Amino acid sequence: MIKDTPIPYDVIKKHIRLMKLDNVGKASIREIKRLVDYVEQETGQKYIRMEMGIPGLPPSDIGVKAEIEALKKGVASMYPDIDGIKPLKKEISRFVKQFADTDIDPRSCIPTVGSMQGSFAAFMTCSRMYKEKDTVLFIDPGFPVHKQQCRVLGIPFESFDVYNYRGEKLRDKLESMLANGNISAMLYSNPNNPAWICFTETELKIIGELADKYNVVVLEDLAYFAMDFRKDISEPGKPPFQATVAKYTDHYILLISSSKAFSYAGQRIGMMAISDKLFDAHAPNLKHYYGFDTFGRAMVFGTIYALSAGTTHSSQHALAAILKETNDGKYNFIEVVKEYGEKAKIMKKIFTDNGFKIVYNMDEDQPLADGFYFTISYPGFTGEELIERFIYYGISAISLTITGSERTEGLRACVSLVSRDQFPDLKYRVEKFNEHHPVS
Ligand SMILES: Cc1ncc(COP(=O)(O)O)c(C=O)c1O
Repeated sequence: MIKDTPIPYDVIKKHIRLMKLDNVGKASIREIKRLVDYVEQETGQKYIRMEMGIPGLPPSDIGVKAEIEALKKGVASMYPDIDGIKPLKKEISRFVKQFADTDIDPRSCIPTVGSMQGSFAAFMTCSRMYKEKDTVLFIDPGFPVHKQQCRVLGIPFESFDVYNYRGEKLRDKLESMLANGNISAMLYSNPNNPAWICFTETELKIIGELADKYNVVVLEDLAYFAMDFRKDISEPGKPPFQATVAKYTDHYILLISSSKAFSYAGQRIGMMAISDKLFDAHAPNLKHYYGFDTFGRAMVFGTIYALSAGTTHSSQHALAAILKETNDGKYNFIEVVKEYGEKAKIMKKIFTDNGFKIVYNMDEDQPLADGFYFTISYPGFTGEELIERFIYYGISAISLTITGSERTEGLRACVSLVSRDQFPDLKYRVEKFNEHHPVS
């Protein structure tokens, strides 16, 4: 092992020993975070922290003001309606119309405690619609916590890495999984965490058509809504729009997070927008769990009621205010979050100039967008080996293997916590890495 590394070799070795980490590459995100914290404390040197997917921007000011106002008016003492306060339901419905060109009635637009609660509630309700359909399908790579949700719910799941099945190839693969008849719902994120692939219209059409054919609910996770910066969707009501499966099926739930788009992660509020047709759909097996068989009713008065009886009152006012300004064209949230894409462009170049490859790099025939995440690999290294070695170069990231990706050579890098004034350090460290590990 080369000892002339940007972060002192002996200090890192000492902390690895003290933390009893046998294999740093296999350590959890939290363990890596802890190790990096210790080394930063001792050396005073800051890491390029690319491991955690948390927003790196201040929260929307409109939201903060509206929330304080609502609290002063006393909303804290009152239970909000389980399916959300009226002004928020109206603005969610307007938002999906203005920015995704999708018509959903306000009654089918429901705030949730983060988009995480939306997916939890969706897994729970969808897998109870039909006895024989008890399994969730993940179009991977994906966000590991979704699988954790299925595990704690006792819901079986299947998955496949979409890397080798882009474009028309997706049809046969997806059909082979759905044809078994056991899938209740399928989930993917778009743009994708961790790969930042964005499904093309061809792929969304395939997903929509097969969802109809096999009576499967599409859970479209739009946690990074509008962040395919290759197209500017910032003008309300005018194309282009956020790409969505809603164009191709009416058997879907859109899960929209306010954590990244509005930097509102701490207040744990997200949106669940259920297609009106699914909201009114009858599924006899629901009666067994909820006492009624209509999907929307089961979701609201069965699942959401049982989980949290709604979403924090004040944060609903915050989101309603943010969405209203956005829908009225007075607040351009995309302009704010574009910073992620601009940083990604520079950071990707630093890596690719120094022998690294972008693992997921194309959307069919189009180069990938620059956004919140990107994926990298280095010749001759597995992802785990790279993570281990990166620690000595003052860089942290996570391995793609925990995301359901079959690209064992890859790492996910998140741009949000890396500040622009760290770019010279990043460049120096990546160059050093390349110098120490020449590519033949
Ligand atoms: C793909 C994906 N889905 C969902 C979430 C969770 O969003 P929320 O904070 O709204 O619960 C995240 C957060 O990182 C995510 O990356």
